Amino acid sequence: MGRKRWIAELTLVVVALAGVILSIGYTTRKNTPTEPARSFNFNPTVARLERGRYIVEGPAHCFQCHSEVDWQNPGAQPKTGKKAAGTVFIEDGMDWLVAPNITPDRETGAGTWTDDQFARAIREGIGHDGRRLFPVMPYMNFREMSDEDLASVVVYLRSLNPVRNQLPKSIIPEPAKAHVPPPQPLTASVPGPDMTDPVARGKYLVTLGNCMSCHTPMNQQGPMKQLALAGGMVFKGPWGDVTSANITPDASGISYYNEAMFVNTLRTGQVGARKLNSIMPWGYFRNMTDEDLKSIYAYLRTVTPVQHRVDNTEVPTFCEVCRSHHGYGDKNHSE
Ligand code: HEC
Ligand code: HEC
Repeated sequence: MGRKRWIAELTLVVVALAGVILSIGYTTRKNTPTEPARSFNFNPTVARLERGRYIVEGPAHCFQCHSEVDWQNPGAQPKTGKKAAGTVFIEDGMDWLVAPNITPDRETGAGTWTDDQFARAIREGIGHDGRRLFPVMPYMNFREMSDEDLASVVVYLRSLNPVRNQLPKSIIPEPAKAHVPPPQPLTASVPGPDMTDPVARGKYLVTLGNCMSCHTPMNQQGPMKQLALAGGMVFKGPWGDVTSANITPDASGISYYNEAMFVNTLRTGQVGARKLNSIMPWGYFRNMTDEDLKSIYAYLRTVTPVQHRVDNTEVPTFCEVCRSHHGYGDKNHSE
């Protein structure tokens, strides 16, 4: 997942941070990080089990982070018997960060965690032990997960095979602590988008899928807003060396795609004959329905087109626009 992976996943966090600080300024809340604002009890139903499986194994790609992954096989699936059993982020250059075992094993996993503990971890970034979580866990995006989807996710996680896998706890080093946003309890219900509106539905899935975090480059100040979804984030690790693509509707982006091509790309991990690197979670996105993939496409058609050429088939050169090295970097010029 590359040294830069965590920075990538932080992108939205930094953007959201301004909003967080703002909203805290307006209201004084009594909640401490260990005090839940709301109480949940997720009744398991078949519908929730299915919806939960869909979100976890599809758009939210939880197990690409929460498992030891086989990077050599296309689609980067969990190693056999390791699904959801957690992993240390050594390959990402962060040996201090541990995506925990979220299978229902009672001793080494999540078997004894309550629904409230799950809810707060997923949407608010407060661990089951009250610890503030590092935002590689995309809780700043998952804040927007609807109450019903959240219930479904938890119901599904509880149905998994318990896997015994003892892991250490994350120890966030002092300098990295600066990237952890302050707790922001969710006090109101989250209804979710109007699912009959393709653009709203697509936007919701793009949020759960963390597309923005990986497809927007960062500098010292945080995500480069003027390059939102325009690619340029470099990923180096056991999966190879690759830069995220420009997925805005610009000529240098994916304006040449049509809907069928987009659906096919996210399903197969191939753009025509060109294979996509598995760090791009197509091995999970492929589980989405046509309708959902089409709504993601509909939403991406509405974002601001940004001119920024990125081509992973070319030798990396310096890019003065996103200030990293990537294929066709030298074709981009800042005004
Ligand atoms: C980009 C990687 C990534 C993705 C995607 C991801 N997680 Fe996490 N998650 C992490 C990491 C890393 C931690 C540990 C953070 C820490 O220890 O500070 C974590 C922590 C958690 C915790 C907290 C456990 C505790 O100690 O209380 C839960 C629960 C969790 N994740 C569930 C999920 C679910 C459910 C999904 C999908 C809907 C998901 N995660 C998607 C990386 C990820
Ligand atoms: C963990 C990081 C990551 C996440 C999350 C991610 N992507 Fe990607 N994506 C990449 C990288 C890296 C590439 C370049 C892969 C390559 O060229 O081999 C890529 C390539 C693509 C491409 C191919 C573009 C082309 O023609 O070259 C599309 C389309 C795409 N992503 C869409 C999405 C969408 C939509 C989402 C969210 C639902 C998403 N990505 C989430 C990292 C990510």
